Amino acid sequence: MRNLDQYNITQAVLARLAQTPDPRLKQIMTSLVQHLHAFAREVRLTEDEWKRGIDFLTATGHTCTDQRQEFILLSDTLGLSMLTVAMNNDKPAGCTEATVFGPFHVEGAPVVEQGADVANGAPGEPCLVRGRVRGLGGEPVAGAEIDVWQADADGLYDVQRPDLPHHQGRAVLHSAEDGGFHFRSVVAEPYPIPDDGPVGEMLRATARHPWRPAHLHFMIKAPGYETLVTHVFRDGDPYLDSDAVFGVRQSLVAQWVRQADGLTTLDFDFVLNPVKKTT
Ligand code: BEZ
Ligand code: FE
Repeated sequence: MRNLDQYNITQAVLARLAQTPDPRLKQIMTSLVQHLHAFAREVRLTEDEWKRGIDFLTATGHTCTDQRQEFILLSDTLGLSMLTVAMNNDKPAGCTEATVFGPFHVEGAPVVEQGADVANGAPGEPCLVRGRVRGLGGEPVAGAEIDVWQADADGLYDVQRPDLPHHQGRAVLHSAEDGGFHFRSVVAEPYPIPDDGPVGEMLRATARHPWRPAHLHFMIKAPGYETLVTHVFRDGDPYLDSDAVFGVRQSLVAQWVRQADGLTTLDFDFVLNPVKKTT
């Protein structure tokens, strides 16, 4: 096909995809091309603007390292991560809701006993976190793998402190026979997502702040249940309604309570969705 113009080029590209053997890939590519072309037409994209966009994506790629994934950050700040989570985690009422995974999870965090201090030296106000893991029917889930990670009082994850000799603010523990768990840590504080790269530039250009409300991350796995990736957010945080990555669910907001004896506690129960039987 020759002499394609602005009116018929979309159809020509779609025709070129018609032989894609994998039907799902064909559907995704077709829709992507349709929406990209519609976007360019709608805003009447100029050549300079498209070059600027390419430069932005190139810089985003160059910012990625083993420790930093700027494309995930871009997806998060455009709401695409949370949209994907929301579409794929439509659980029955009563289940704990899911939210974004984020870029700071680490495989192989230390496995600790109940009651351990997962802060492991991280700065912050000490606290006790406790709760129970249950199934949707109310049954206790024993032996659930509870992977927890959090930023410290300076708003940094251990992986953002490259000179640290060991993990801080992250661990894996297992629920007891009654589904219960407890561990010590430091109180979560709000922190800005990394904004010294292209995503930060995009946030500033669109008059957005980079802050996330204080939260603890959890990933909970147990045989017979869907894996839950979620956070517990701290009630009263000033960024609950303007999370830079759109991850807040009201059902995940909880209170860190200062007890009479001076200890700060967080109580939060998790409810897992049983895996659907396919017989
Ligand atoms: C986080 O909560 O760790 C996070 C999530 C998305 C982007 C940046 C950080
Ligand atoms: Fe986080």
